[in-house]
Amino acid sequence: MPFSEEFLEELARRNDIVDVVSSYVPLTKRTGANLFGLCPFHGEKTPSFSVNPERQIYHCFGCGKGGGVVNFVMEIENLSFPDAVRFLAQRAGMEVPDDGFDPDRGKRSRLLELNRDAARYFHERLLEPSGAPAQAYVEKRGIVPMVKRFGLGYAPEGWQNLTDAMMDRGYSRQELVDAGLARVGKSGGLYDYFRDRLMFPVIDVRGAVIGFSGRILSDGEPKYLNSPDTRVYSKSRSLFALNLAKKSKSGYILLAEGNIDVVSLHQAGFDSAVASLGTALTEDQARLISRYTTQVVIAYDADAAGQKAAQRAIGILQKHDLKIKVLQIPGAKDPDEFIQSRGPGAFRELIERSGNQIEYRLEQTAAQFDLKTDEGRLGYLKAAARLIAALPGSVEREIYGMRAAEKASVSADAFLTEVARTRRQNVAAARKKQDREDSAPLRSAQPKSRQLRFSNVRSAVAEEGVIALLCRFPEMFAGDEPLTAEDFTSPVLGRMYASVLERLRQGRSVSLTALGEQFSPDETTLLAQLLQRDDIPASAARQAMDDYIKKIRAEKEKTALDEDIRAYAEKLKKTKGYGKDGS
Ligand code: UTP
Ligand code: MN
Repeated sequence: MPFSEEFLEELARRNDIVDVVSSYVPLTKRTGANLFGLCPFHGEKTPSFSVNPERQIYHCFGCGKGGGVVNFVMEIENLSFPDAVRFLAQRAGMEVPDDGFDPDRGKRSRLLELNRDAARYFHERLLEPSGAPAQAYVEKRGIVPMVKRFGLGYAPEGWQNLTDAMMDRGYSRQELVDAGLARVGKSGGLYDYFRDRLMFPVIDVRGAVIGFSGRILSDGEPKYLNSPDTRVYSKSRSLFALNLAKKSKSGYILLAEGNIDVVSLHQAGFDSAVASLGTALTEDQARLISRYTTQVVIAYDADAAGQKAAQRAIGILQKHDLKIKVLQIPGAKDPDEFIQSRGPGAFRELIERSGNQIEYRLEQTAAQFDLKTDEGRLGYLKAAARLIAALPGSVEREIYGMRAAEKASVSADAFLTEVARTRRQNVAAARKKQDREDSAPLRSAQPKSRQLRFSNVRSAVAEEGVIALLCRFPEMFAGDEPLTAEDFTSPVLGRMYASVLERLRQGRSVSLTALGEQFSPDETTLLAQLLQRDDIPASAARQAMDDYIKKIRAEKEKTALDEDIRAYAEKLKKTKGYGKDGS
């Protein structure tokens, strides 16, 4: 059940978009009716994020995001619509009507309760004597002191331990399945999803247990089992241990790959460690991080996969204006192993000595060339100049430029000249690309043959779409024909449409061979292109067809209006008798 309209209106009235936005983004500029600031949704240096107080909307001219105050809160706080509404209601001190407006809300809070009870259950199992296998495991991994802080638990061996315990507490089968804690077996009975595993509860920043990941105690597959996404858990939007890391005073977030890495790091005093669970870092996770810090230290595994993942993560984090350092962990496969063997002090040194991401990238680049040869140095120089040319600040460019020059043993001047040249090229290339993009859609829509040029490209694109869809999904027009050939602005496409329709009406299939003889070679080429198209999935075909038809009609109306205006102007000219009789 949605919120009532009156309630939403009142909510919007009491949450002026300028006030709400300003608490995240300083709106420093005013141009006409709009206030401007730096867009919180993409990295930028000049403000293209606008808020219109009169219309109570925002729009970013850079990334295209826009909407009203509720959308804004959904985006920036990563909330669902109902949660964003509740957020704003609380902000304005409004009572949220509680008469079953959100059927999901009740279900969600039940799942959260169930998760909490399950976490407690697992934790208790670990502590009691029968939890010996898990106790031995945490001892072996050296993380006993963290059992309490992380609420670690043990999912015992057996098929229905948790299920039975939770059903005894009044949770339903459906709830257990919905929470991802149990599955339905072949015989219809439930069985525990997590069995004989060390359990890591995933806790969100509000302190709610939203999911679990469970590590196998021996060697076996899969090593980690994660809760599926549920009403309360989205892996791509959550980070393991962010509930703890958000309280850290370290000034940075330490991003690791593994659960055990995170636990080990916290135990060693690095209380800002988090990990994404079973996924590569996502945009949503980067945004989440950017709410708590401006600096990220990446501590991924030392293997090639880890280094590749780090490169990817850098790209994503950069978009959110986060400063980035990348740790390289010598002589160990991951932070956990490093700390267990070398101790916290050595790890702290790694952090302190680690370069920022540009230094890291320069290192990586240097490693690809043999700097003892002229050829290698030249290659490095060019690659390094590309990296440095992309830096926004001139001071940064100079500092790193000098360092790179030293490494390649060339003069700093020569190197910085190369950087400047690369920058000019980049700027020119960007401008060209933009120009191309600006004019591409319409130009590329024109057929190659001049004879076939469309008079109304917008309509013609839709007309082509209709023909292409009709050939692929003949059943689409079963019975009704919403368009006639006269609706087509392109005579050629109109004829093709009529031919295709005719064949379908005769119950025959549409093929190039069958239709070929009615069309010139150029036209046949065009038809062939249309018959080859499969850019729209079957599931979207109906909607696409409707859109095409709407487009064709809209263009037709526009043209008709133009015609009317022209005719009217002609008439005026005549009656007013411009020129001749001068009355
Ligand atoms: P790793 O295989 O590097 O595990 O996976 P790890 O953390 O070093 O594990 P330990 O030290 O052997 O216990 C890194 C992370 O990837 C996810 C888990 O979150 C894991 O911590 N993962 C891994 C899965 O989700 N499923 C798997 O089967 C394996
Ligand atoms: Mn590990």
